[in-house]
Amino acid sequence: MFLSNVSLFDFRNYAELDLTLERSATVFFGGNAQGKTNLLEAVALTALTRSPRTQQAAELVRFGQPAARVTCGVQTETDRDELEVRVMLSPTAAGARASRRFTVNGIPRRSSDMIGSLRVVLFWPDDLQLIKGSGEGRRRFLNTLLAQLDAGHARELNRYGHLLEQRNALLRAIRDGRQPLDELEVWTTALAESGAAIMVERQRRLLELQPIAAAFHRELSDDRERLELRYRPAGARIGEAPQELVTEQLKAAMRDARDEEIGRGQTVVGPQRDDVEVWLDDHEARLFASQGQQRSAVLSLKLAELHYLAEVTGEQPVLLLDDVMSELDPARRERLLAALEPGPQAMITAADLNDLPRSILERAAVFRVEQGTVHA
Ligand SMILES: Nc1ncnc2c1ncn2[C@@H]1O[C@H](COP(=O)(O)OP(=O)(O)OP(=O)(O)O)[C@@H](O)[C@H]1O
Ligand SMILES: [Mg+2]
Repeated sequence: MFLSNVSLFDFRNYAELDLTLERSATVFFGGNAQGKTNLLEAVALTALTRSPRTQQAAELVRFGQPAARVTCGVQTETDRDELEVRVMLSPTAAGARASRRFTVNGIPRRSSDMIGSLRVVLFWPDDLQLIKGSGEGRRRFLNTLLAQLDAGHARELNRYGHLLEQRNALLRAIRDGRQPLDELEVWTTALAESGAAIMVERQRRLLELQPIAAAFHRELSDDRERLELRYRPAGARIGEAPQELVTEQLKAAMRDARDEEIGRGQTVVGPQRDDVEVWLDDHEARLFASQGQQRSAVLSLKLAELHYLAEVTGEQPVLLLDDVMSELDPARRERLLAALEPGPQAMITAADLNDLPRSILERAAVFRVEQGTVHA
């Protein structure tokens, strides 16, 4: 699988762009605020069906325009698929509302049926917060990886999100006396069942990812540090528990937290509160890791993501590297580069070509990005 071309129409600061990509590496360089990240964001949006940098799809539409469109041509062994995302604005009293539409070869698809058609690993400066930042970043890391591996999981995540919204609305209605308490049970059960399915899958995948990440980290730390990923499901003790047991644990946890949940109008247990702890030797990295240790741990996680996606699917994902080379010291940069040989197709951005090693520049197509245009 490789990304053969990208077309943009009124996406962020691009009015119109048609870009053909190399099978190996393509480098995009240019000054600040010219559109380098926007371009990688467009590819990630198509692959993941949502932007990795905003929840507000309306921001993706070029200022003053009614709609944005991104089209990615994906070449597989036998076929060429055209994946398209449209973001359309409709004015409402409270400002513009955005809706997203997905098509594959012109046929409408649900987001969960498009995800996985183009698999990407995005590595960008925000990821350096993966260790010290909030659990949300680590959950997104998991969701991105798992949804790309399995459309069923992507559907379950969507379903869970909808159920959660409805249950939270009900909790607020009960708090305000607009609904009776006995409405809650059926939503608790539905949410617990969906949540348990997600948790069991997270646990299984993390157990497979763990040794891969640990091996990269061992190498990056010259055999000195042992990295461990510990899944912390919120409201259940997974271990080797079967799914039905996890469902029961979640239901019990929601029952125990009932007064708090009604008071806050929010569900306080379940996968939306999960975390993954990263441990280095016997210490939690979030609390104790140095800058350098964090960088190595993040790089290990990203390389593991790349490796695991390739291993499970039998195909290399597309690597999107936004401005990270300048953030890494020479040794870590070398390790990242090693992953590119013979490796995956890559789109690499840099403000300055001097930030990129010669070995990449020699074999990459190089484009300059300038005010929403791309020149050879
Ligand atoms: N919806 C939009 N319509 C028009 N322009 C936008 C929109 N959203 C963002 N922009 C503009 O796009 C420009 C380029 O953004 P981008 O993040 O791609 O820059 P960059 O080339 O990656 O810069 P840097 O090197 O600083 O990371 C910014 O000036 C931003 O204001
Ligand atoms: Mg940028």
